[in-house]
Amino acid sequence: MDQIISPNDMQAVIDADKAHVWHHLTQHKAFETGDPRVIVEGKGMRVWDARGKEYIDAVAGGVWTVNVGYGRASIADVVRDQLLRMNYFAGAAGSIPGAKFAERLISKMPGMTRVYYSNSGSEANEKAYKMVRQIAHKHKGGKKWKILYRERDYHGTTIATLATSGQAERAMQYGPFPDGFVMVPHCLEYRKQWDVEEYGQRAADAIEEVILREGPDTVGAIVLEPVTAGGGVIVPPKGYWERVQEICRKYDILLHIDEVVCGLGRTGTWFGYQQFGIKPDIVTMAKGVASGYAAISCTVTTEAVFDYFKADAADPMSYFRDISTFGGCTSGPAAALENMRIIEDEGLLDNTTRMGERLMGNLGRLMERHKVVGDVRGKGLFCGAELVADRKTKEPLAEKTVAAVVAECAAQGVIIGMTNRSIPGLNNTLCLSPALIATPDDIDAITNAMDKALTKVCS
Ligand SMILES: Cc1ncc(COP(=O)(O)O)c(C=O)c1O
Repeated sequence: MDQIISPNDMQAVIDADKAHVWHHLTQHKAFETGDPRVIVEGKGMRVWDARGKEYIDAVAGGVWTVNVGYGRASIADVVRDQLLRMNYFAGAAGSIPGAKFAERLISKMPGMTRVYYSNSGSEANEKAYKMVRQIAHKHKGGKKWKILYRERDYHGTTIATLATSGQAERAMQYGPFPDGFVMVPHCLEYRKQWDVEEYGQRAADAIEEVILREGPDTVGAIVLEPVTAGGGVIVPPKGYWERVQEICRKYDILLHIDEVVCGLGRTGTWFGYQQFGIKPDIVTMAKGVASGYAAISCTVTTEAVFDYFKADAADPMSYFRDISTFGGCTSGPAAALENMRIIEDEGLLDNTTRMGERLMGNLGRLMERHKVVGDVRGKGLFCGAELVADRKTKEPLAEKTVAAVVAECAAQGVIIGMTNRSIPGLNNTLCLSPALIATPDDIDAITNAMDKALTKVCS
């Protein structure tokens, strides 16, 4: 790391942070005796903290975001040029990068045609919920206003998106929540709820049971993560998605896929849903769209969904009246265009598939060596290892022991993640989502650190 500021000035930064910054998802009592982690530089897969310690970042910025890695000068350059030419105008007008990125994005999403811009995953999902509600009011006789979501999935931090939190700890103490959001069971076969052969089909049938209980004419949409992220890295079992689609068609229910983590490229295809042959009506995305170089999220729809909002031009209330001030920032689509070019030109989708296989292979070997590893799951560079105190009973390993494994990896210079403040009693899955540029050496360095940490903490 270059010396960017003097040690004294760096201490002043740490002191200012401790005194004034309120960090997300953080209990601050610990900073009365210790320092917060302050990250000051990044290059490729690596980051450096304020003390100069180097880490391999196995979680792409902590929350599966920096897909093309740190220090991309070409993204910085296009954003700078764009900001100087035209930084902002409200989204009722178009922009050059906004139009170009929408066209490019849609070219990777057969069946989808429209892109609505905003700035975070929560917002993108909330826009989708508003679309579903407005369609219900205007076109479905005031019916079909309920939105189903799945146990263990997460869709954001606003009150409405928390109303669709399948992760109880995320929502606790923030209620009451608005009506009309209904949970369906999760599909994690490792923690089976039905003792059947065709688990995917059975878990999807459980959605139909909820629809029939609620009344099909009241249900407008279902929102699902293609691969559940913070709820434990859950790849739906075989047969699941086919049945989900069948159910959606049967009851005229819009299928909203939340790609906030899987898009773009994380699983080895542009989108997670493309791994499973899903034909969605609405797709939302955020984190990997511009790899964290600018804030951007997108709510993407089919033309059929879009058409609902232009069907009655005589009614001044019939179009989508959502407002997103910063959806008009041009830095987002400018960065996103360059991010996509990098993924394409550097062959990062193929790399993700290859490195994902290596990572899953290494995790499988960790499972052979450490009996605390109860299950390993993943798709592409989006993987998890569930830790258990007892393989037979599947009793989850205590959260503080899982946290000790994460801390030991960090001490060795590798940042990994874990499910946290998510499912009560089940915050026991280690999470990995390295940048899509990872090399075989990076992957091995990550799992070697995990191997040492599991030996030190759990044996
Ligand atoms: C699947 C999923 N959807 C939505 C969100 C919310 O995104 P944001 O934090 O950008 O609002 C997240 C954030 O972690 C997520 O994992």
